[in-house]
Amino acid sequence: MTTLGFMSVSRQHEADYACELAERAPDYNVRFVRFTPFDISPDTLRVKALVYHPKSGKWNESEIDIPEYIYDRCFYGKAAGAQKAKPIVEWLKKYPKTEFIGRGLPDKWTVTDALQQHHLISPYIPETIQVSRYEQIHSYLTKEKACILKPAFGSGGRGIILLESGKKSISATYHIGKNKQTKTFSNLVSFKSWCKKVLQHRYLLQAYLNIQDKDRYPCDIRIFMRKSESGAWETVGKAVRRGYQNGLLSNLSGGSEPLKFDAWFEDIPKKQQAVLLDDVFSITQSVPYFLDERFGPLFELGLDICYAKDGRIWLLDVNSKPGRKAILSVSPELKEELYTSPLKRIRDLHSLESRKGVLPRES
Ligand SMILES: Nc1ncnc2c1ncn2[C@@H]1O[C@H](COP(=O)(O)OP(=O)(O)O)[C@@H](O)[C@H]1O
Ligand SMILES: [Mg+2]
Repeated sequence: MTTLGFMSVSRQHEADYACELAERAPDYNVRFVRFTPFDISPDTLRVKALVYHPKSGKWNESEIDIPEYIYDRCFYGKAAGAQKAKPIVEWLKKYPKTEFIGRGLPDKWTVTDALQQHHLISPYIPETIQVSRYEQIHSYLTKEKACILKPAFGSGGRGIILLESGKKSISATYHIGKNKQTKTFSNLVSFKSWCKKVLQHRYLLQAYLNIQDKDRYPCDIRIFMRKSESGAWETVGKAVRRGYQNGLLSNLSGGSEPLKFDAWFEDIPKKQQAVLLDDVFSITQSVPYFLDERFGPLFELGLDICYAKDGRIWLLDVNSKPGRKAILSVSPELKEELYTSPLKRIRDLHSLESRKGVLPRES
């Protein structure tokens, strides 16, 4: 029996998802455990894990060896506690007696920069630069009148800022939770000191795209992809995420609602439909393979694609630890598929290793 360790920065995080996987694990001959990076003892390398007990359906705390396979669901955010998990996870990735079923992608700039340099993918990537100085923001705004600032380590729409330069003032629009807020600067001195505060964190500056639909709801398409046994990338499901009317974000955590892709697709002009499908196909046939080779091995990917007002298709974001909420809510029939996928991946990795003649690791 192989052991799969579901690793998150706190025991509460994604507890429901872990339970869904745990219940199905015995069908794949997998012992399912949960732990946080802080549960590993640096002296003994033993882990104080919660082990799922299939007969009782309960989780029992026990001390175990570091699991043979790890499903990394750590989200670091800004919390100091979570950040402390990062070096432990980096160490674990190099530990020879365990294997991550997918490695997380690096920060947004490293990924965007790599994508911008790929000749087939770059047409889908909005112009993006890394910013560290106020002058870079000022000169871009003077030229283009609007841009998006995006934290290099952000997720869930947190820290995304829309800057717009008007005749007499500059405005910064962002979300605090579900509320959209706007700050107006009537002079460059106050704007500069605000920018300096923002730039204490690493930020990307990106061309602002109008992603609002005809009724002014910001939308994007979430595509959930995973690597199959043969190494080919397949699309598991698609959903459209629609934010608030006149809002900025389409992330679910920013309050957006998931819509069925087909229903949304029917509503866009016929001429654009073929272009959209064609572009989505090009993106899904190139991006996962390229990122897998450059930063992988990867296992699951969530692509955020938008259909901008001018009819062009852009890749906004790539997530290596995608959530399942949007896809499950529009396609509940994918539940089994999604809740068995990591278990199937272990079965695939295991059989690949035996075919290579490598003996499964001792548990
Ligand atoms: N260049 C852009 N132009 C317009 N809206 C954007 C742009 N980039 C991101 N957004 C909006 O912000 C949301 C979050 O951005 P994203 O790059 O996906 O970062 P996160 O990791 O926080 O999800 C997107 O889903 C989209 O609604
Ligand atoms: Mg995103």
